[in-house]
Amino acid sequence: MEIPSLKDAAKRSKNEIKIQNYSSTNSSIGIGKKYYVKTYGCQMNEHDSENIRAILEEMGFREASDYINADLIILNTCAIRENAHNKVFGFLGRLKHLKREKPSLMIGMCGCMAQEEVVVNEIMDKYKWLNFVFGTHNIHKLSSILTTAVERQKQEIEVWSKEGDILENMPVKRDSNIKAWVNIMYGCDKFCTYCIVPFTRGKQRSRRKEDIIEEVKSLVKSNYKEVTLLGQNVNAYGKDFIDEEYNMANLLEDVAKTGIERVRFVTSHPWDFTDNMIDVIASYKNIMPYIHLPIQSGSNKILKLMGRRYKKEDYIELFNKIKSKIPNVSITTDIIVGFPNETEEDFNETLDIVNYCKFDLAYTFIYSKREGTPACKLLDPISLDEKEKRLYKLNELINSYAKMNNEKLVGKTVPVLIEGVSEKDNNKICGYTDTMKLVNILGTKDLIGKIVMVKITDAKSFSLDGEIING
Ligand code: 5AD
Ligand code: SF4
Repeated sequence: MEIPSLKDAAKRSKNEIKIQNYSSTNSSIGIGKKYYVKTYGCQMNEHDSENIRAILEEMGFREASDYINADLIILNTCAIRENAHNKVFGFLGRLKHLKREKPSLMIGMCGCMAQEEVVVNEIMDKYKWLNFVFGTHNIHKLSSILTTAVERQKQEIEVWSKEGDILENMPVKRDSNIKAWVNIMYGCDKFCTYCIVPFTRGKQRSRRKEDIIEEVKSLVKSNYKEVTLLGQNVNAYGKDFIDEEYNMANLLEDVAKTGIERVRFVTSHPWDFTDNMIDVIASYKNIMPYIHLPIQSGSNKILKLMGRRYKKEDYIELFNKIKSKIPNVSITTDIIVGFPNETEEDFNETLDIVNYCKFDLAYTFIYSKREGTPACKLLDPISLDEKEKRLYKLNELINSYAKMNNEKLVGKTVPVLIEGVSEKDNNKICGYTDTMKLVNILGTKDLIGKIVMVKITDAKSFSLDGEIING
């Protein structure tokens, strides 16, 4: 048994990052059994679940259509905000009943919540029926953890606080055969004061460029159309290399040269966004003109309290540079309202910067206190009611700009990668523009997986309608 410690997780060593090759499991305990993986949170988690599913399939398990008819359920969790926690514990409540009806059902938890001491203590105390827990650093050990839990028939907890080596050649069962997630780095060293990620995901470590390029090349060979390069702060890619100078601009260029039709990347921190990166994005047609650039707040006082390392003036300068150098670029952001000590004036400064930037879209959140982070100690006199009012006001503004930006596209013809049948209308297909806008189109399924030219006919806040242009 190994239980997590946030204090240990906050430590950063100068040790060189080692690379390890995944070795396939020889366990076959899953033969004849079905699994269900439920994923919460960000793209990183979604991609981890793709690895988890592949490991389970190596062990003989097959995917269940629903958790109700599964023999094994794994919850891959998110710790970023309180409501992510609540959702997981809510689902665990339902699973408790299921487990009572079907005692042979195996249930496990992994992901960012598993890295939190408070959560693991609660599980050991009140959720003794949960069979196993593993963390973000030992997914490659899943087969042995699960086998031990089955053999010993007692709760198996194996969570490492210190990040492990970088694992190459992990098996992967991807959600899509059109677009793929590709990890380029793990962890984060920024330690923004509100954020739990540097604790749950460990020290920043970059994958070797050769491994990334090889993965993208093999995706091109398998006919994938799009890759999204993943990391908590992708712009810091390569900063941890000791023996070579190679950065995100270099990587973007080399990935673009593989010939993959679309390259995207998330997430960028304004601090590390270089001019070279902007130039590379502007000069390669297959690097998409879409940048997610979290601002978090428009108040310098709050940005400082958040430990974001830039002022609003720096953000605006970067924003303008990106807009002027990359034609038709769309920029989206993340904003937190109600950070401790955010006054009405601070909040108004956030509204001002939204009015200035007119973002294509923004993901907005009420500040959520995370145990163990520096901001957790700050006094927070603002009521939840007030924070909710601010969020509502901000969202109204964000949505109006989202609609305004979408309306600008009406009448224009844009490239869309068709991904599937529209959720709202079975007669329609849907996909994303180069600028990451969802378009619903009258069309046939044979276009799925193709990039087609689409004339935009109507705009809503969060989607567009369009028709295919022939030829
Ligand atoms: N409370 C609210 N929002 C948060 N985020 C990260 N930590 C917190 C928190 N404690 C938001 C940030 C980040 C996004 C992924 O989640 O805006 O960019
Ligand atoms: Fe969290 Fe800041 Fe790192 Fe993003 S850059 S993962 S907000 S600590």
